[in-house]
Amino acid sequence: MRIFDTHAHLLDEQFDSDRDALIASLPEAGIARVMEACCDEAQIDRVVALVARVPFFYGSAGVHPHSASEWTNETGDHIRTALTRERMAAIGEIGLDYHYDFSPRDAQKACFDAQLALSAELHAPVIIHDREAHGDCMDLLRAYRGKLSGVMHCFSASYEIAKECIDLGLYVAFGGALTFKNAVNQWDIASRLPLERLLIETDCPYMTPVPFRGTRNDPRRIVLTLQKLSELRGVDAEELSETLYQNAFAAFGIKA
Ligand code: NI
Repeated sequence: MRIFDTHAHLLDEQFDSDRDALIASLPEAGIARVMEACCDEAQIDRVVALVARVPFFYGSAGVHPHSASEWTNETGDHIRTALTRERMAAIGEIGLDYHYDFSPRDAQKACFDAQLALSAELHAPVIIHDREAHGDCMDLLRAYRGKLSGVMHCFSASYEIAKECIDLGLYVAFGGALTFKNAVNQWDIASRLPLERLLIETDCPYMTPVPFRGTRNDPRRIVLTLQKLSELRGVDAEELSETLYQNAFAAFGIKA
């Protein structure tokens, strides 16, 4: 079995005590590829350095909606330069977060729009974070119809929105929340969408699957999300993992 964790934050300080040992343990646990998602401009060069030294890691560069207030034109140039590096494969994570509202909504929309424009210019896939902002998020994505590729990360909207995202050229990723006991809506969506447009991810150290909720998440826990999706789809887990693995390469426009 080989699995692509399409969204992880191994640079989070929660991994400071054991990051290298944990990363070294991933291949034997079946975690063959990892996409390290960048959160803010200060992290861009750290993602580039991590990806440069770990051959099975890919990276993104981008500014999360929480940090949208810090966006400048120079930030765009920083992302542009980072994406010239090997295995730096996406712009992310970018989007809107109206749950926390850590940056004003106008700043979030401007920062998201600027990064979508950059993705269209560079033909770079995006990693999208949409939390309780589905209306504005979809309005911005529709403005880039025909120019989008990438992933709706940690999908939490409706089946109709998922279908529209797929029509816009995006993949839909599910994480540990799929294992939660009340995730009825997510189970329905994950069982009905076309399999060739699905991905799995951890979003570690967050979103820890059942039965480990409340503890730090890491890429090895993705197996629990795979198993849940395997039950929902009625597909053998090993066969499913290979399909999702290939999907991830397609979503990020990278070669195996
Ligand atoms: Ni994330």
